[in-house]
Amino acid sequence: MTSAYSLRRRLLFWLLISTAGLGVVALADTYREAVQTSNIVSDRVLAGSALAIAERVVVAEDGSLQVDIPYVALEMLTSAAQDRVFYRVDGPPGDFITGYQALPVLKETQGDGAVFADDSFRNEPIRVATLRRSASTGIRSVPFTVTVAETTIARRQLARAILLRSALRLLFMIAGAAIIVWISVTVALRPLYKLRDAIGERSPDDLHPIEQSVPSEVQPLVDTVNGFMVRLQSALDALRNFTGNASHQLRTPLAIIRTQLALSARATSLAEAQGAALKGDQAVAHAERILAQLLLMAKIDAATAKEALTAASIDLTAIAQEITGDLIPIAAAAGIDLGFEGDGPETIHAEPLLIGELLRNLIGNAIAYAGKGAEVTVRITSTADAVRLEVEDNGPGIPPEKLDAVRQRFSRGNDTASPGAGLGLPIVEEICGLFNARLDLEPGRDGKGLKASVTFERR
Ligand SMILES: Nc1ncnc2c1ncn2[C@@H]1O[C@H](COP(=O)(O)OP(=O)(O)OP(=O)(O)O)[C@@H](O)[C@H]1O
Ligand SMILES: [Mg+2]
Repeated sequence: MTSAYSLRRRLLFWLLISTAGLGVVALADTYREAVQTSNIVSDRVLAGSALAIAERVVVAEDGSLQVDIPYVALEMLTSAAQDRVFYRVDGPPGDFITGYQALPVLKETQGDGAVFADDSFRNEPIRVATLRRSASTGIRSVPFTVTVAETTIARRQLARAILLRSALRLLFMIAGAAIIVWISVTVALRPLYKLRDAIGERSPDDLHPIEQSVPSEVQPLVDTVNGFMVRLQSALDALRNFTGNASHQLRTPLAIIRTQLALSARATSLAEAQGAALKGDQAVAHAERILAQLLLMAKIDAATAKEALTAASIDLTAIAQEITGDLIPIAAAAGIDLGFEGDGPETIHAEPLLIGELLRNLIGNAIAYAGKGAEVTVRITSTADAVRLEVEDNGPGIPPEKLDAVRQRFSRGNDTASPGAGLGLPIVEEICGLFNARLDLEPGRDGKGLKASVTFERR
């Protein structure tokens, strides 16, 4: 399981990261605009001040320029904060008239209006405005410039105040959004908590589909879980069915064994005791066979590593021939003529012991059910894309309506005289499933007997 994480924390994290990022950009823009706005307002005052001074510049009788700085011109600036104001007036180039000689003068011109720039003076940031005018005597006009500057404390204070307010507003919004996310996640998760409680309250074997109403995003998950539960239910049912049947199948031979043991204990003659012992022994053999079949079935059911089982390539002809040979004496004892047909090796990908088991079951059935005097043929044929194993007999066969039923576990025909558990054909079919093979049951030649064929598709 991956480590648990909180949806709520994740959402909050991304909300905060993204709003913080956007907030920084927004604040930078706000600050730029605040500085611009405060500049526009203050520049107008600066220009007014320069204009008021310029109006007081006159040409003296000796042709020099004179200025009488009006108090109000500087007063309208100093009224703001603790800002300090500087000015200078210059006549024609190189002719300083009055003010702070170290104050920078702006070179560029801008029609009739003042030009503005940020600069520094005495290690302090200042805003400078330079205005170009000329004073006239009536005969000639003398150009001059008026430069007014002020420190930028008030402007920066204003911009900072605007910035602070926006930052506070933003923080307030982020906090609000975080609370909304927190609450809405809690509300959105409520159906999931209900779902958890509903599943938690169930009894362990209640595998009915979950019918809790959940958000549409969660519905696919619930559907998947429901599908899983249906499969689990059918697997459990199959297991219960199987164990029930298995114990039932074993109960009969065990009962026979007990009866025969009791009979032999009470026997008055040796022949009577021997007869009971023989019957008991047959019942033990029957039980043994059922157990072997059950174990084999369980083993196949548990075989999940199909790749490992199909890794080996084996010669089907050789295996079939060998097993047929092994069973000939048994067949002969039952009055059956068992034969083999097949030419040359035919390779399939399978596990040899399981293929042997498959063959033993099919041939065993033919010997058990075809009846005395019947012929049984084991045959290997092949086409371009398949290898086929056939076990054909000319006995009574299986009625068409029963062909499906005999494939079920524990299903047997009417001929219950011969011992069996009804697991042979199901085992064959399961082994086929492991090796991508197919089991077909059909009447034999001339519609007589049974032909069981297993088709292995070539890979
Ligand atoms: N060659 C056959 N001819 C006629 N009937 C057959 C033949 N093979 C199988 N059957 C019928 O199909 C039934 C099911 O066969 P299956 O091999 O599955 O179980 P079984 O032989 O009864 O028991 P087990 O094989 O577990 O000992 C048999 O009981 C029998 O009635
Ligand atoms: Mg059988």
